[in-house]
Amino acid sequence: MAQYDDKVLHELDGIKEYDNPMPGWLMAILWGSLLFSAAYLMFYALSFGEGTMEAEYRQQTQQSVAAVQAYFDANPLVPPKPAELLAGAGNAAIVETGAARFAKSCAPCHGPQAQGLIGPNLTDDHWLHGGSVEQIFQTVAKGWPAKGMPPWGRALRPEELSALVSYIRSLQGSNPPNPRAPEGEVFAAEPIAGH
Ligand code: HEC
Repeated sequence: MAQYDDKVLHELDGIKEYDNPMPGWLMAILWGSLLFSAAYLMFYALSFGEGTMEAEYRQQTQQSVAAVQAYFDANPLVPPKPAELLAGAGNAAIVETGAARFAKSCAPCHGPQAQGLIGPNLTDDHWLHGGSVEQIFQTVAKGWPAKGMPPWGRALRPEELSALVSYIRSLQGSNPPNPRAPEGEVFAAEPIAGH
């Protein structure tokens, strides 16, 4: 090992330690990752840059909520014509669509057969807020939040809202078991188109 003697750093009890530094590329990776982690820590954890990931998340959530609001403001819900809603009540596919949505969103409060639970019976001829398909559409779209009926106009697609109203109209007089007692004024159901 004589050719390396100029590289001897020190010698102890005949054991020589050579001056054999880590190769430059490895040191570059080491220093590079140290610098990167310091910058990363400052930028994200200590929010020297754009802000914390949490703030960024909150900002993006706000942006998408605002975008949804703006969409609905620019595209106000157009109530369908009563004739369309009544025709839907005689259309099996539309009634099916309404029934599927009702089971998911409405049955918990109005009962699986709309017989009434927390919310009123929707199958009888008594109505708190009017029983014309036009009035039912308004009730479902805008809700009566103070009375516990949520608004659905910004949660459901317009065709689902219409299908719900047609479905409710199709249930008139279905007399499900264990109905909730009638509430409100009597309204004679409008005829379903084609019946
Ligand atoms: C969190 C419970 C709840 C949910 C969910 C709910 N409702 Fe209601 N709904 C109510 C309550 C409570 C009322 C009665 C409001 C009042 O007393 O003015 C009501 C009233 C109504 C009325 C008016 C009834 C009348 O007599 O005039 C209709 C129609 C109606 N809901 C349809 C729906 C539809 C369709 C859905 C699903 C998209 C739905 N509701 C989901 C609680 C609910």
